[in-house]
Amino acid sequence: MHLIIIIFMFFLTAMAQTRILIGGWHILSSDAVQGSIAQWSVANADVSKWSRIGARATVLGGLVDSVDHPYNETALFASDALSTVNKSEFHVPWLYREQFSLPALSSDQHVQLNLHGVSSKADVFLNGVQVVFSDIQKGVYAGRSYDVTSAARSGINCLLIQAYPTDTGKDLAISFADWNPAPPDSGMGVWRTVELEITGPVSLSPLRVTHTYDRGRTSPQSSVVVTICTDVKNHGNAPRDAVINGTLVIPGGLEIQLSQQMQLMAHSTYTLTLEATLSGSQVQIWWPAAWGPQPLYEVFLDATLLNTVSDSAHATFGIRSVEYKHNANGDGEFAVNGRIFQVRGAGYAPDIFLRFDVRRLETIFRYALDIGLNTIRLEGKQEHPELYELADRMGLMVMAGWMCCDKWEGWEYNHDVQGVEVWRDEDYAIAEASMLHEAGMMQTHPCLLGFLLGSDYWPDERATTAYLAALQRMDWPNPVIASASKRGHPSQLAPSGMKMEGPYDWVPPIYWWGDRLGAAFGFASEVSAGSGTPELSSLKRFLSDQDLDRLWKKPNDGQYHQAPKDSVFHYRQIHNKALKSRYGSPNSLEDYVFKCQLMDYEATRAQFEAFAAREATGVVYWMLNSAWPSLHWQLFDYYLLPMGAYYGAKAGARLQNVVFDYGSTSVRVVNHSLSPGCYLVSADLVDTDGKTLLHHQEAVDATPTSAKEVFSLAKILQLAKPAFLRLVLSTDCNSNVTLSRNVYWVNGRMDSLNWENSTWYHTPTKRYADFTALGPGRLAPAAVLAVVRPVAHPDPTMTKLEIRLQNLVKVPAFFVRLTVHDNGEEIRPVFWSDNYITLFPREQLTLVVEFRAERWKIKMKGVNVVERDVAT
Ligand SMILES: *[C@@H]1O[C@H](CO)[C@@H](O)[C@H](O)[C@H]1NC(C)=O
Ligand SMILES: *[C@@H]1O[C@H](CO)[C@@H](O)[C@H](O)[C@H]1NC(C)=O
Ligand SMILES: *[C@@H]1O[C@H](CO)[C@@H](O)[C@H](O)[C@H]1NC(C)=O
Ligand SMILES: *[C@@H]1O[C@H](CO)[C@@H](O)[C@H](O)[C@H]1NC(C)=O
Ligand SMILES: *[C@@H]1O[C@H](CO)[C@@H](O)[C@H](O)[C@H]1NC(C)=O
Ligand SMILES: *[C@@H]1O[C@H](CO)[C@@H](O)[C@H](O)[C@H]1NC(C)=O
Repeated sequence: MHLIIIIFMFFLTAMAQTRILIGGWHILSSDAVQGSIAQWSVANADVSKWSRIGARATVLGGLVDSVDHPYNETALFASDALSTVNKSEFHVPWLYREQFSLPALSSDQHVQLNLHGVSSKADVFLNGVQVVFSDIQKGVYAGRSYDVTSAARSGINCLLIQAYPTDTGKDLAISFADWNPAPPDSGMGVWRTVELEITGPVSLSPLRVTHTYDRGRTSPQSSVVVTICTDVKNHGNAPRDAVINGTLVIPGGLEIQLSQQMQLMAHSTYTLTLEATLSGSQVQIWWPAAWGPQPLYEVFLDATLLNTVSDSAHATFGIRSVEYKHNANGDGEFAVNGRIFQVRGAGYAPDIFLRFDVRRLETIFRYALDIGLNTIRLEGKQEHPELYELADRMGLMVMAGWMCCDKWEGWEYNHDVQGVEVWRDEDYAIAEASMLHEAGMMQTHPCLLGFLLGSDYWPDERATTAYLAALQRMDWPNPVIASASKRGHPSQLAPSGMKMEGPYDWVPPIYWWGDRLGAAFGFASEVSAGSGTPELSSLKRFLSDQDLDRLWKKPNDGQYHQAPKDSVFHYRQIHNKALKSRYGSPNSLEDYVFKCQLMDYEATRAQFEAFAAREATGVVYWMLNSAWPSLHWQLFDYYLLPMGAYYGAKAGARLQNVVFDYGSTSVRVVNHSLSPGCYLVSADLVDTDGKTLLHHQEAVDATPTSAKEVFSLAKILQLAKPAFLRLVLSTDCNSNVTLSRNVYWVNGRMDSLNWENSTWYHTPTKRYADFTALGPGRLAPAAVLAVVRPVAHPDPTMTKLEIRLQNLVKVPAFFVRLTVHDNGEEIRPVFWSDNYITLFPREQLTLVVEFRAERWKIKMKGVNVVERDVAT
């Protein structure tokens, strides 16, 4: 028997407080068991036919990862295999069973079962006794605690959870809208940890922390008062005198002691608040990664009765302020620590089967920060506490909120969704329990930017009341926003200040510099040109040979990995028509994928640049990553390989940047750094033969956290053929450090849009810019010298290389990609300082790459640079 039990023992004394996490489950369909369910919750039943899975897993997620079951991820993700899964096995409840051991229990001790949400609902049995009923335990986020003392016993115990099927149109569950196919089990199961807690007669709830730090105030604060709250419960039938003592650990190690005595009546709950005043160096402010450090405080509390610890609690928190206001245009604007915080974000997707691997998440967050993003948006995908702990440590902001397009937005006034039930009375209770639980999980985390009560639609008045009451009950310290769109708002909340006007499909770079719909103004809560085509090495992992063939030979065909069949995003024809018109018909799969990268690079760069350089308050790229191997809406692919969309976004999202405004053909400087400095901007335009058409250089006066136009390049409009524009931003004070270097391919006739015929997901292009002269075989070949030099990395398991490139000829080397390989496979994750670069005639450039591998080989390839291995 695989019995995995993790026991955390806290501190002192005779009556040790214990927390037991269920470390894994045996699962089986309820169809496969005879007789009463309860009998399976007694110890030593025969589970040899049950599948062994991890601690938190939906039914299908568990089966995919279980060693003894036929579901295989590689096979399920291949071509359209997922659509052929027989869903009927998920239309009946499944049983999750585990045995675990409890220490000797005294009559004074209490055992509490904590469920953090089960999809869609659950009955729970402990040692043959039903302790939880599915008419109460409903909802994927409705975590609840149950006193199971009377059913628990010393020694071996057995817990059995019956998880019911999920229908995302009827249940408050997790759905993926049009992001990817729905998982065949609709995410049913025990997807979050289950734990048991043994306490004495007095218990403490999870801690909540608030503080008085407020950078919006006019005068500086010399001290900050931190308030720690917990609900203290006396479970016993006698009054008790308790001492609540604690320690507040200031980053760096200094401790402040906290103490409070309490008289607790029998069977009653009290809210305890403990205050500590921090002053001087005790006040350490938490910052988003680009702006400063992430100091974290810790607090430990013990509830003691007659020198015996009855319960303990612990929390980590940070001190920072977040505000959300409406500016003069009515657009929502965040400020962090009193500084206007322009959101450069992207939508986060969990795994399609809700599997969770914190190391994978760390890579995802590292990619987000490497791109230059400062925020992720969670749309109804609140994941687990580790996500918030990681975001706190890494300085990545989180915009959390509920989901669109399913039961969460089952309002009478929402006509956009089919098959979604309008809320019944019980749904309001489930929603309130969900909000209570999620707010409790997030409350202390400095990474939280706010919570969106709706996405496409705002919650109705009754749901808003329930949500707000729950947030208030949890001492929610962050902004609460009605929705992610402008469609409407409940009377208790202001208009959201965010827009959701598309696009989600291909539009040319000039779109973002326009003044309508999703263009770069205001706060765009989910928007993109739909970019994110993976590189060939990833495409081959999940597409069949026929799928790959259709990709370039049948541009109007649907693709299952693009979106489900009933979605407009099942097709790539808008993108493919633009690709053919702008770069010429693809002549091979390789040519097609390469041109996709060109299109994606242009699209993501222009989007991030325009939002940064305009009076916009925020942009959330749709999306950061995908729940499964997807063909679009991502900045790196499911197999964690960055592609054109990634490097375009990285070029567009730099903290200090020089950007080309496609709309006015001018050059703009962006400054979202807090560091002082001074800028020098240079612009160079060369034709495809490398002949200089223009050179201009200008010093720029300091512009605090904003953007401005520095000069115009109207000459570009006179170009009769494509040319290359290089913009360089350097500091011109004491040193001459390049802060940003961007190369654009431009032509006199830009793309133009048919705004009148826009739909909710795209704006048609009236005329395409002609870049066919940049296609393969059209440019004179370039020769690029590359010299590789290993450099030390603080982490000895990581390899870091510096690659010095030099273009040896007088023509530009266009869109050069460098890759790292081990044994023929591309190494991933991989962190390049820059990639898909265009080198000007004779230009030198140094790139840095970091990855983990013992052996490696570097390859280089560009439009007019033949593929070859780089000498090492
Ligand atoms: C899953 O299937 C793939 C091919 O379809 C195979 O190569 C792989 O070994 C399988 N994995 C397991 C764990 O069975
Ligand atoms: C799906 O599985 C069920 C049993 O779980 C079976 O009755 C049904 O025939 C299967 N459907 C198909 C199309 O194979
Ligand atoms: C709690 O803290 C107070 C003040 O520091 C101290 O006097 C007391 O002994 C502590 N009590 C326990 C049970 O730790
Ligand atoms: C960028 O903004 C920061 C903070 O607002 C300011 O201190 C700095 O001088 C600005 N840099 C330049 C070169 O404009
Ligand atoms: C920095 O480099 C530019 C371009 O090479 C040059 O024009 C400028 O004078 C340099 N500034 C300093 C302070 O060296
Ligand atoms: C917009 O589309 C309609 C029909 O779908 C067409 O009649 C009209 O000419 C289009 N408008 C423009 C400006 O292309």
